Amino acid sequence: METTEKTIDALLEENRVFEPSDEFASQANATPEIYDEAEDFEGFWARMAEELHWYRMWDKVVEYDPPAVIRWFIGGRLNASYNCVDRHVAGPKRNKAAIIWEGELGEERVLTYWDLYREVGKFANVLKGLGVKKGDRVAIYMPMIPELPIALLACARIGAPHSVVFGGFSAEALRERINDAEAKVIITADGGYRRGGVVQLKKAVDEALQMTPTVTDVVVVKRVGDDVEGMVCHMQEGRDHWWHELGVDAKTKCEPEEMDAEDMLYILYTSGSTGKPKGIVHTTGGYLVGTYTTFKYIFDNKDDDVFWCTADIGWVTGHSYVVYGPLANGATVVMYEGSPDFPDRGRWWGTIEKYGVTVLYTAPTAIRSFMKWGTEWPAKYDLSSLRLLGSVGEPINPEAWMWYHKYIGNENCPVADTWWQTETGMILITPLPGAVATKPGSATRPFPTVDADVFDENGDSVPVGAGGNLVVKKAWPSMTRTLYKDPERFKAVYWSKYPGVYLAGDGAKRDEDGYFWLLGRIDDVINISGHRMSTMEVESALVDHQAVAESAVIGIPHEIKGEAIAAFVILKDGFDGTMQMEKELKSHVRQKIGAIAQPEMIIFIAELPKTRSGKIMRRLLRDVAAGRALGDTTTLADPNVVAELKKKYENEE
Ligand code: WT7
Repeated sequence: METTEKTIDALLEENRVFEPSDEFASQANATPEIYDEAEDFEGFWARMAEELHWYRMWDKVVEYDPPAVIRWFIGGRLNASYNCVDRHVAGPKRNKAAIIWEGELGEERVLTYWDLYREVGKFANVLKGLGVKKGDRVAIYMPMIPELPIALLACARIGAPHSVVFGGFSAEALRERINDAEAKVIITADGGYRRGGVVQLKKAVDEALQMTPTVTDVVVVKRVGDDVEGMVCHMQEGRDHWWHELGVDAKTKCEPEEMDAEDMLYILYTSGSTGKPKGIVHTTGGYLVGTYTTFKYIFDNKDDDVFWCTADIGWVTGHSYVVYGPLANGATVVMYEGSPDFPDRGRWWGTIEKYGVTVLYTAPTAIRSFMKWGTEWPAKYDLSSLRLLGSVGEPINPEAWMWYHKYIGNENCPVADTWWQTETGMILITPLPGAVATKPGSATRPFPTVDADVFDENGDSVPVGAGGNLVVKKAWPSMTRTLYKDPERFKAVYWSKYPGVYLAGDGAKRDEDGYFWLLGRIDDVINISGHRMSTMEVESALVDHQAVAESAVIGIPHEIKGEAIAAFVILKDGFDGTMQMEKELKSHVRQKIGAIAQPEMIIFIAELPKTRSGKIMRRLLRDVAAGRALGDTTTLADPNVVAELKKKYENEE
C-alpha cells in the first residue's frame, strides 16, 4: 500500500476546484436536479429506457440478488442495432453523419445513418448466409476501420454475441479467446495501418486457426491489398471469404431479431488476477440503456456535436463510447485508424481541427505523451471547436489534468475524469459537466443512482480521507451478468468479499465533499497505458519459455504508460541471463500475449523472496523496484534473498 498512501497524500493536497461556467451549465443536458430525480431509482432508469425503441415494454425494471440474479427490464424485447441505426433512419437523422472515419494514410470515409443502415443490413445477411444463428458467437479481430462497428452492429442485429479481440493481441491470445467463446465465424482484415507500417492481422488469424475446432468461416476485409511489400494474405478455399465479395449479392434489408432484454449482446475478455482471461458478459437491454444514458449526460450530447473517443473498439471503452452509447443517441463519431504520431505528433490536433471535433474522450497515457512532446504541437492547430474533454483508463494525475485543461481545452472546457471498468459496461463515477465542480485528479461523484462506497476489510464504510476498497452496493443497468461459462469465478472475484456488494478491485478514498479519488488496483492487475494485464498471464508466458524456471511479475511506475512491467526471472541450469536472453524473453511474451504485455525490464535472479509456505512476496519485489525501505521481512523463508535481489536490481537500473 505504500505507493497508494503516497499517491493519496499527494492527491489530497490537490485543492483546486473548477466550477462549471454559467455558459456551459445553462445549456447542459444534466442539471444538478438530476441527482434528486435519481432518488426514484427504478423510475429514473425506466424513464431513460423509454427513450429507446422496444418491441415489447418490460414488466419489471430490475430484479437484483447478485451474483445469481441480476436482471433489468424483465420481459422487455428490443434490438441494439435497431436502436443504433433504424431508429435514426426513420427520422430527421437519416442523412446525418454517423461515423466519420479517417485512415492512417489520410483517407476519409463518412457514413451517414442511412449508409450505416445499408451496410449493417447487408453484412447481417452475409452472416446469416454463413449459417450464423441467434446465439452463435462471432469473433472479431480487426483494425479501426468502419467495417468494425458495422460487424458489431450486424452481429447485434441477428442476435449473435460478438467477441472482439483487440488487434494488438497475438495469435495465441486470439486462439485462446476464440476457443473459450467457441466462436463459429471470425471477422478480420488482411491488415491495418499503424505508425506507417502494416499489422498483418490475417496472418495472425491463420496461426490462431490451427487449433480452433468451432470455426467454420473467416470473413476478411481487404484493407491493405497486395501492393504493400511483405504483405501476405493467404485465403483458404472454402473457409476464407472476402468481405467485399460476400457483400455483392447481399440484400440490404434484414429484419432485426427481437431480443430479450437479458439476451447476451457480447462477450469481451479482460485480464483478471489469474492467467486465464475473464469473458465479461453483457446483455442487451440494460447495457444499451446504461451506455445511452451515460453518453447523453456525461458527454452532454447535442445534435450538432462531433464526438471523438480515441479508444480502440477492441476495448470496452470503444464498445460503449465509440459504438453503442453514441450511436444509440444518434451522435456523430470520429474514428481514427492509426497512431497519434503519424506522420507527425500533431495528427490528433489536426484531426480535431479538420472535423471540428467538439467532445474529446481519451486516456491519461496519451495526455502524458503529448505533454512530453510539447505544447507546440497542439498550438499549431485550431482547437476552438472543443467544448468538453473526457479522460478514462487510469487515475489521471493532477499535472496531466491541468495540462489537458489548459493546452487542449483552452481553460474553457470541463474535464470529466470517468471511472469505470469492462465489467461495469458504463461510466459509474464521473462529473456531470455543467452540474458538478471538478477537482484535478478526482473522478468526483457517482453517476445518478449509482451507490458507490469505500469499505474497510470488515465491510464498513471508511471515514472521510481513509483508503479502502471501492464497492458498489446497488445495481446499475449495464453491469456484467456473469463470466462466460464461469459463474463460480464470477462469484468468487466480485461477490465473495462482501456478500451482495460488488467489489471493483480498485482502492479509493473520499474527501470531505464526498468526491472519490481512485488509487489504482488492489489485486495482481497491472494497468499499462490504461489497459489491464494480469501479472499471472505474463508469468505464464515467461515460464512457457524453455529457459525459464520461475518468474514473478510486478508493475513499476512509468512516466508515460502509468505502469510498466518488471519481470524477475530465474533461469534453468545451463542458461545465462545475457542481453540476448532478455531480448528473447521479451519477444516471447510479445508472441504469447501481445506487445502491451512485453516487460520493460527483466531482472535475472537466483531466487525469489518467498514466505515459508512458498508464496512469492510481491510486496517486497515492489519495494525493491521502487527503491523503498523494505517492509517486514520476518516471514521470509530466506531473508538473504532480498539483499541479493536488491543488489541485482540496482545493477540493472
Ligand atoms: C480499470 C478498468 C473502462 C475504462 C477502460 C479500462 C482503471 C479506469 C479510471 C479512472 C482511475 C481508472 C481502474 C479500473 N480505471 N478508469 N478514471 N480513474 N482508474 O477498462 O480494462 O476494464 O480497466 O481501469 O483500475 O478497475 P478496464
